Amino acid sequence: MFTSLETPRLLLRRFSTQDVDAFVSYRNEPAVARYQSWETFTPDEAAEMARLQVSLDPGTPGAWFQFAVALRPDLEIIGDVGLYVDADDHRLGEVGFSFASRYQGKGLACEALLEVLRFSFASLGLHRVKAVVDRRNDPAVRLLRRSGFRQEALFLQHVWFKGAWCDEYVFAILANEWKEALGGTR
Ligand SMILES: CC(C)(COP(=O)(O)OP(=O)(O)OC[C@H]1O[C@@H](n2cnc3c(N)ncnc32)[C@H](O)[C@@H]1OP(=O)(O)O)[C@@H](O)C(=O)NCCC(=O)NCCS
Repeated sequence: MFTSLETPRLLLRRFSTQDVDAFVSYRNEPAVARYQSWETFTPDEAAEMARLQVSLDPGTPGAWFQFAVALRPDLEIIGDVGLYVDADDHRLGEVGFSFASRYQGKGLACEALLEVLRFSFASLGLHRVKAVVDRRNDPAVRLLRRSGFRQEALFLQHVWFKGAWCDEYVFAILANEWKEALGGTR
């Protein structure tokens, strides 16, 4: 059963019901919610998500596992990285991420995402990991490029989202690309 992952500054662990307040707080920041599926994120939704995560392991086909990202040494929850594994092909993954505004711009999201990629390729044996982002979401696009993702597609007016048609990028990274570009020393 999954317990945690560590990086120099972070601990990535499963969500617990005790994280609900922190989770609700940063997920409701307008800048964090802007390009996400939710308008508001209620304590009940957060509690239900934490409850589902208790018995879930990362890599479970057809499910999103949310890594709670805690900053060391105090282990305050500062964000999350979600990993979805395709229900039909268990070697295909997708990631998503949200970080509290005051912890952005410090390379912490990148540190967490690189660790989730390492885990996805080296431990779970995934073949490919993708991310779908709104074209206007510059910080997310920069994070993906910095983490080794390639832009594969730009779908125009692909989704009706918060009152308008929006363009979406698909980014992806393959296991062999990760190994060559980022995983050589890991
Ligand atoms: C997407 C998101 C996670 C990116 O967070 P971020 O903090 O900008 O990303 P990083 O961890 O890569 O940090 C990079 C920035 O930190 C800076 N930085 C400062 N110290 C650094 C360090 N020690 N190491 C690396 N970068 C550092 C970099 O220069 C960079 O700034 P720049 O983007 O202006 O060039 C964040 O904007 C977010 O949570 N957005 C809302 C949720 C969302 O839209 N998610 C996407 C949906 S899939």
